[in-house]
Amino acid sequence: MPVAIAPMTRIAELPGPPALPMIGNAHQISRPLFHQRLEAWQRAYGDIYRMRIWAREFVVFADPHVAAEALRERPGTFGRTERVSTTATEMGFGGLFASNGEKWRRQRPMVMAAFDPGHIKRYFPSLVQVSARLAARWTRAARAGEAVPLQQDLMRYTVDVIAGLAFGTDINTLEGEQDVIQRHMDKIFPMLFRRTLAPFPYWRHFKLPADRRLDVHLQAFRAAVQEFIATARERMRAQPALRESPTNLIEAMLAARDQPGNALTDEDVAANVATMLLAGEDTTAHTLAWMIWLLAQQPALLRRAQEEVRQALGDDPLPTRIEQLAALAFVEACAHETMRLKPVAPLLPQQAEHDTSVAGVAIPQGTLCIFLMRPGAMDGRRFADPERFDPDRWLRADASSVKRASMPFGAGPRMCPGRYLALLEIKMAMATLLARFDVLSVEAADGAPVQEQLAFTMQPTPLRMRIAAR
Ligand code: HEM
Repeated sequence: MPVAIAPMTRIAELPGPPALPMIGNAHQISRPLFHQRLEAWQRAYGDIYRMRIWAREFVVFADPHVAAEALRERPGTFGRTERVSTTATEMGFGGLFASNGEKWRRQRPMVMAAFDPGHIKRYFPSLVQVSARLAARWTRAARAGEAVPLQQDLMRYTVDVIAGLAFGTDINTLEGEQDVIQRHMDKIFPMLFRRTLAPFPYWRHFKLPADRRLDVHLQAFRAAVQEFIATARERMRAQPALRESPTNLIEAMLAARDQPGNALTDEDVAANVATMLLAGEDTTAHTLAWMIWLLAQQPALLRRAQEEVRQALGDDPLPTRIEQLAALAFVEACAHETMRLKPVAPLLPQQAEHDTSVAGVAIPQGTLCIFLMRPGAMDGRRFADPERFDPDRWLRADASSVKRASMPFGAGPRMCPGRYLALLEIKMAMATLLARFDVLSVEAADGAPVQEQLAFTMQPTPLRMRIAAR
């Protein structure tokens, strides 16, 4: 007897918000709240729906298991969208994140090696030094009775860490008050996001004032990237052994670049330096900002985290050994719970590289898909009280369902290579804060309720934190 095969659903048959001629659903979208609009449509139309922004149609998937399966089919079936890839590349960020296919395959092992746990453990003494500078900065603010501009300080911390670890350069923006590279990155990230959503790449034909301002920031940023490369080249000239045994990502990339039949070009090296700065800065700093804010809303949990830190550190004023951070199980659970409720990457856009199907929907080559990461992680059918900030759900025996549903670092072969570093940085910054200070308040700098804002990463409105030194 012939086996009945269920027919595939066509995209045209999917539900979705009614679209206007020409613009589709563009009028319903405001960029900073794009993720919330997509999540609202998921509640209205279900876990698979379609929507359109001008000429570009998107299929949106919200089931975490469907997302995990599709994201595993990379490279090959899915990849970064052409718009993300070309826009990032023309801005100088065509490194690992923006690449697809063979180019991605060549770069990924090098980046993975640079962020593997062994390498990060060797970097730990420098992480201690950067954290001590953060503590000193906060001690000054506490003594002066000044509020800490939370994200700004955390970005100084994350940029100093990534520059030290990946480029071997101690840029020390935590102690410098001069023009810092973050000032330019602050402007570049939102513009990258804006361009990925624009109806068409108008900036290739004419420039608006915002595009001209971007050019100025990009120029300053590129100069900083070139300086990291020049410093590393100088080091390698002085110590030729570094070619055989590079000690960080930039040295490994330069060694590969200089080999006969080189696997990387100068442009690839610069694009990856830029990528690591962007990918390593915002994500971790904003996750930390969300975490500190969430804990400040729940004094009992904040106290518990503080007690855990103080017990792990004993008489040490700051963490000095990696084992002390390994003992912070509750603080780590707070980080996971923060990323469940406030994932800095709440949506992952992907483009089909050939005809395929996802959850019974026929997906022709070139189709734009968006995987929504938060609805599954906050689904009341999967676990109790999904809205509540409850770090203990990560420590209970039945934690496996939340672990499967929450994927803040993505999934599959392109899963975030910085995740081990990010968790270590988060625990280090939290231990630094909780060991040395009492958190008095965390609120929006403008006094209004704290809001989510999407600007490539999903971040809180600027926060200010008041602390007292212990
Ligand atoms: C809390 C902090 C972080 C979060 C939540 C985060 C999240 C993500 C996510 C969701 C992706 C996309 C994964 C996918 O497509 O499946 C990603 C990719 C990536 N992340 Fe992170 N990330 C964080 C920190 C970092 C750090 C510290 C670095 C270090 C430089 C980093 C470097 C990268 C790179 C290079 C990629 C592209 C990987 C590829 O396409 O193969 N991230 N990250």
